[in-house]
Amino acid sequence: MSLPPVLISEEAIRDRVAELGAQLSADYADKGNLVMIGVLKGSFIFLADLARRMSIPRTIEFIAVSSYGRGSKSTGAVRLVMDVRGNIEGRHVLIVEDIVDTGHTLKYLIGVLEAHRPASIRTCALLHKAESAEVDVDIDYVGFGIADEWVVGYGLDYAERDRTLPYIGIVTPDDR
Ligand code: PRP
Repeated sequence: MSLPPVLISEEAIRDRVAELGAQLSADYADKGNLVMIGVLKGSFIFLADLARRMSIPRTIEFIAVSSYGRGSKSTGAVRLVMDVRGNIEGRHVLIVEDIVDTGHTLKYLIGVLEAHRPASIRTCALLHKAESAEVDVDIDYVGFGIADEWVVGYGLDYAERDRTLPYIGIVTPDDR
């Protein structure tokens, strides 16, 4: 099987992650320790790289959700599988996603985290498929806007394949 064609190269990702890290470090300077919450599983590589490109005090948490009835898109029925472990009340929180597609997952997560009464919640996604949006949800920090294609790599999978590709690739019809 051939490798997926490149949509976003390793170098382009590295450069953009460094920019986002610098921007976040500036925006959250003097705001205390930022809680970065990675959404499993897809965000684990992005979160690891982004967190190491920042220069402010930060804490890492993870949260896990699953979508019911998922075919090619989430349906809006999202379920919490694992909540954050630490106490985030009164803390500034950044949700870190690999991709926002319909927006259902992120909207649901904001609701879950608001119940913990943080000082603020902002959102960061490496990839945003604006054309696919089904709900209105703000993404404060976006790595790359992409068209409505199936993508893999850098944490994203297709049926659990290709998560560890170092770049963002396109799933071709032959690979589905
Ligand atoms: C992906 C991605 C987001 C969600 C976005 O997760 O990591 O969490 O889908 O889709 P939405 O905007 O349409 O809700 P996925 O369900 O593939 O799980 P995974 O991260 O464990 O692979």
